[in-house]
Amino acid sequence: MKKKVPVARNVGEAREKALRELRDGLDVDLLLAHALGLTREWLYAHPEQVLTDRERQVFHEYVARRAAREPLAYITGRREFYGLDLRVDASVLIPRPATECLVERALVWWRENPPAPGPNDPAMIVEAGAGSGAISLALASELPEATVIAGEVSVAAARVAHENVQRLDLAGRVYAVIADLQPPTGPAPRLLVANLPYIPRAVIDTLEPEVCDHEPRAALDGGDDGFDLYRRFIDEMRVVPGGAAAIEIGRDQAALIRAAVSGHDPRLTVEVTPDLEGFDRVALIRGFR
Ligand SMILES: C[S@@+](CC[C@H](N)C(=O)[O-])C[C@H]1O[C@@H](n2cnc3c(N)ncnc32)[C@H](O)[C@@H]1O
Repeated sequence: MKKKVPVARNVGEAREKALRELRDGLDVDLLLAHALGLTREWLYAHPEQVLTDRERQVFHEYVARRAAREPLAYITGRREFYGLDLRVDASVLIPRPATECLVERALVWWRENPPAPGPNDPAMIVEAGAGSGAISLALASELPEATVIAGEVSVAAARVAHENVQRLDLAGRVYAVIADLQPPTGPAPRLLVANLPYIPRAVIDTLEPEVCDHEPRAALDGGDDGFDLYRRFIDEMRVVPGGAAAIEIGRDQAALIRAAVSGHDPRLTVEVTPDLEGFDRVALIRGFR
C-alpha cells in the first residue's frame, strides 16, 4: 500500500515532499521561490517558515505541471539569456544557451566591421524569427549605436518580444514587428540575424517531452530536412554591401547552409563556428555587394 505523504507545513517539508516527485533540487527550489515570491537564498535561510494554504496550493500546482514535463521557464515565466531577464510563455521558444554563440559571433563581426557614418550604411540590425526577442535584445544591449528590427511571424510571440523590449527599457532602439522572414520593407540592414526553426519534422516527436509537447511547433519545424525556412530566407536576404548575415543552424547542417548560399550567390562566403559543445552552430555569411 502506498504510504500517505503528510501535508508539508513549512518550507523545508515542502521542498522534501516535492523532491520525491521531481528529483531535481534546483527545479524544486526555483518553483518554491516562485510560488512564494521570494529568492532561493531566503528559502535556504528559513526552512521553518510556515506556508499559507494558498502558497501550498500554488506550489503544488507548479510541481504537478513540472512533473507533467512542462518546462520550468514556462511555469516561472522567466528565462535568462545573455545576462538579460526575459519574460517567456508557451508562445515562444525558450532561448537556448547555444544561441548565445550566435550573439557572440555577431558581436565580434560587428565590432570588427563598424558601420560607416552616413545614410547608406545605417547601424541597423534585422532579425527574422525573433521569438521572445532574445537575440535582438542581447545585441541591442551590447551595441548602443544599433537600431534593431525584431521580425516575427507569430503575433503572440511578437507580443512577448514587444513586452521584453519595454521591460528592458530598449523601446526606441528595438522594434518588434510582425513579418514573414526578413521584413520586406525598410532599408537593408548591416547585419541580418536569424535562429529560424531548423529541426527536421520527423525528428521533433523524438525530442524530450519538454520540447515536443510544450514548445511551439512553429518554432521547431523546419520541414523535411529542417532547411525549408532557411532556403527561403537565404533567397530573400537583403544586406548592405559589406554587411553580413549570422544564423544559427543544426549540428549537422553545415553542408546544407553552404549549398543553399552558393546556390543563391556563389560570391558569398560561409564561415561555420561551433558552439561550446563543439557542434557546428553558427554560420556567418559575407561577401554582400
Ligand atoms: C527557433 S525559434 C527562435 C526564437 C528566438 N530567435 C530565439 O533564438 O530564442 C524560431 C522562431 O521563428 C519564428 N518563425 C517561424 N516561421 C517564421 C517565418 N516564416 N517568419 C518569421 N518568423 C518565423 C517562430 O515563430 C519562432 O518564434
